[in-house]
Amino acid sequence: METLIPIINRLQEVFLTLGAEIIQLPQIVVVGSQSSGKSSVLESLVGRDFLPRGSGIVTRRPLVLQLVNVPPLGERRKQDNGNSLQTRANARLGIKAEEWGTFLHCKNQIFTDFSEIRKEIEEETARSTNNKGISPEPIYLKIYSPNVLSLTLVDLPGITKVPVGDQPEDIEAQVQKMILSYISNPNSLILCVSPANSDLATSDALKLAREVDPDGRRTLLVVSKLDLMDAGTDALEVLLGRVIPVRLGIIGVVNRSQHDLNTQKSLADSCKDEQAFLQRYYPSLASRCGSRYLARTLSRLLMHHIRDCLPELKTRVTVLTAQYQSRLNSYGQPVEDHSATLLQIVTKFASDYCNTIEGTARHIQTSELCGGARICY
Ligand code: GDP
Ligand code: NA
Ligand code: MG
Repeated sequence: METLIPIINRLQEVFLTLGAEIIQLPQIVVVGSQSSGKSSVLESLVGRDFLPRGSGIVTRRPLVLQLVNVPPLGERRKQDNGNSLQTRANARLGIKAEEWGTFLHCKNQIFTDFSEIRKEIEEETARSTNNKGISPEPIYLKIYSPNVLSLTLVDLPGITKVPVGDQPEDIEAQVQKMILSYISNPNSLILCVSPANSDLATSDALKLAREVDPDGRRTLLVVSKLDLMDAGTDALEVLLGRVIPVRLGIIGVVNRSQHDLNTQKSLADSCKDEQAFLQRYYPSLASRCGSRYLARTLSRLLMHHIRDCLPELKTRVTVLTAQYQSRLNSYGQPVEDHSATLLQIVTKFASDYCNTIEGTARHIQTSELCGGARICY
């Protein structure tokens, strides 16, 4: 089971290298109205400050964020003498850090300073968009850390109604189209973020999710800003699913406020305060709310989701393998062509992948699902 997510991530990388999105892989997509707290939720899942956040439209391009769980630095140093791929990759890149990030658009640059990651996201966003405009072109970021669960997450621009800056008149339609392109993928888990201080019945995120997932098989609701509710009101009914039921669950969170961001409150402090808040105001639900519980739930859902997708994924990989094999054969021997070599790699990889899927499927049948995956390639 632990090997499943790294394999999926690796497969994604191979297909990315080929410049083709041939297989759609499971991922978690965050959807919500502008400033509902999407980027904040993602940050608390990662446990690091690295995303541009704030009021107004801040996230203006999709960010595909692949979290990779790696052993702690000390353990990595001790590990086999450079035999594992992971260790070799570390050595090649000169990684002496506990946690680091890389971008697809500047592959060889290692970011160990997370504020530099935020800066790079901002600069890369600005490179391809004009004043407050949005672009459907994703930014690909990988974060390696001993402190994350291996998940792939997508941060999206928020649903917005009125154009600002140089935004086109049809900004609302554009954003909706972009969101739909991610969440209509049956391999996406949809993480709807709705603030507790606005009416859930008007949630654009849930409305969009319903369009592509009417049965609610892959939609989870996060209720943010529990701390910002009017005096005398609470979110108990919402959190209990009595207002709008959400099959996979409803999880309340408290992220950092703008003031917290301005005064550079740490995520660790925020997490502690969140727990205290939940204990105080929602004691009966505290163990089923909060950022940590959200992370565990997501990991579990992702495992279930991958399991459900395995048969279809396997069929597609088999078809692809056959296609590539016949193309490969048509090149004849010896194979010199660069593209043919790549095809060989993919073919080999795909067949390994099929074997792993079979093994994994058997394994999942018989064992309890657990949160988090440890990387081991
Ligand atoms: P996004 O536009 O959906 O990505 O939202 P952001 O994560 O950028 O957050 C928008 C603003 O809301 C920021 O100023 C955050 O500090 C604030 N915010 C987000 N979540 C919460 C929360 O749970 N409580 C409070 N008080 N503020 C929050
Ligand atoms: Na915002
Ligand atoms: Mg955002």
